Amino acid sequence: MGKQARAIVDLSLKELVKDLNKAYADEWLAFYLYWYMAQTVSGKSYEGISEFLMKIAKEELEHAQELSDLIIKLGSLPIANPMELEKNANTPYMMPPKNTSDINRIIRIVMEVEAGAIDIYNKIAKKTLGKDNVTYQLVTHILSEEVDHEEMFENLLER
Ligand SMILES: [Fe+2]
Ligand SMILES: [Fe+2]
Repeated sequence: MGKQARAIVDLSLKELVKDLNKAYADEWLAFYLYWYMAQTVSGKSYEGISEFLMKIAKEELEHAQELSDLIIKLGSLPIANPMELEKNANTPYMMPPKNTSDINRIIRIVMEVEAGAIDIYNKIAKKTLGKDNVTYQLVTHILSEEVDHEEMFENLLER
């Protein structure tokens, strides 16, 4: 992002980048959790669940990529040290269940992660509405995908 693009951001750039980096950390933790559970899930319907978890893991990684692009455009850099990811995350890492066939527990864990993400992106959207249209557009796009994620798992739980 060039000088003028940064100049039209009517917010503290430092605070904005901090919020985006915190969301970036959340996405990496979410990606890792989904990926890990996709790898380790067991039990009678594990194949379908594993595929489903892996699909969402990829979407969370895509969110991390989109946030990283935006942070760079804003003239900063995403968190470089993986040790800093958990420290900076809005939501602490949720441990996957010890019992890898406990699908209901998996669903409850990811629903908590998704609820946290929805809350954070909604906050950033409210903060950037009319003040930084580029960030607003990205976070509302990610927000709508997090809403879909929550709904998919809610439906699984109801079945
Ligand atoms: Fe995400
Ligand atoms: Fe998600």
